[in-house]
Amino acid sequence: MATTLREAATRAGMRVGTCCTPKMIEADPVYAATLAREFDCIVAENCMKPKYQAPERGRFDFTEGDKLVAFARAHGMKLRGHTLAWHTQVIPWVADAAFTRTEALEILHEYVMTTVSHFRGGVWCWDVVNEAVTDEGGWRIKSPWFRLIGPDYIDHAFRWAHEADPEVRLFYNDYGLELPGPKANRALRLVRTLLDDGVPVHGIGFQGHLGLDNRFDRAQIIANLRCFRDLGLEVQFTEVDMGIPQPTTPEKLEQQAEEYATRIAIARDLGATAFVWWGFTDAHSWLPTFTKGQFDDGLLFDRDCRPKPAHGAVLRALEQ
Ligand code: G3I
Repeated sequence: MATTLREAATRAGMRVGTCCTPKMIEADPVYAATLAREFDCIVAENCMKPKYQAPERGRFDFTEGDKLVAFARAHGMKLRGHTLAWHTQVIPWVADAAFTRTEALEILHEYVMTTVSHFRGGVWCWDVVNEAVTDEGGWRIKSPWFRLIGPDYIDHAFRWAHEADPEVRLFYNDYGLELPGPKANRALRLVRTLLDDGVPVHGIGFQGHLGLDNRFDRAQIIANLRCFRDLGLEVQFTEVDMGIPQPTTPEKLEQQAEEYATRIAIARDLGATAFVWWGFTDAHSWLPTFTKGQFDDGLLFDRDCRPKPAHGAVLRALEQ
């Protein structure tokens, strides 16, 4: 029986990953050792987003992303690039600016070409466009790219990313696609149209931010996600966590373990090439801050990087 996630995942033909930060890798040897031992794929939680990589006009800063490229290489891991076009953590000098469509296209072109070229060979997959549709199934008009360019910013971003690195896998990444409804339908239409138009989209990223209270029907979720896979897209789970409604109890930790085993089984059923968590230790997770303390303890390791029941359950699910 495998003792680490990456060993079990290799045998299962899938990568297991997590988001992380160069700052924590440098600051905490236990964090770094757990990361390298358990996972074979990483993604930057924040530092490879446009806000940090294009802080001023004419200046790019890839210092932190380069650290992750080096860490991934040193430990035989793949690096997911996250993310080129999103409505949050955008290029600061573009956020509320009044550029013309032509100017905005030039800025997006420069950002995508420069970034993807820089990380050529070091990044395995890019989340080219993140969360372009709303929960109600409309366009995410909050995005500065949508506001300044219109919905075809999506086509352009994918085409330019492919031009900059023809080898890298290009993903549309979003949350809430697991359950049938207006959002999943809209995203499905979006990727189908992109493919019909010959836009180089290679994969679909299911973020998988589903709390322990999100009970769902396994058959229904598989049926829904299969619609994306059946377009011929590579499937990855990209930001999984499972916040526990507070307070956390031993019973809830066991339920979480069971649920995680189910999600791994779903990923394997879909032939997912990676299952990536949005963090690995409960000491570092966006969940408690974002939910104002209502959800916590959503990951596989406790605050001291000791494996929780969910870790064992995931190992077993990978070995089945
Ligand atoms: O950089 C500032 C720092 O200067 C300041 O001292 C500190 C004080 O709070 O804030 C820092 O910025 C924070 C940033 O993360 C970097 O740590 C922002 O406040 C905070 O809002 C931001 O949150 C990130 C969030 O994306 C932004 O929407 C989370 O860490 C990150 O986990 C989260 O990740 C997203 C994925 O990219 C896309 N899918 C959803 C997922 C969860 O929201």
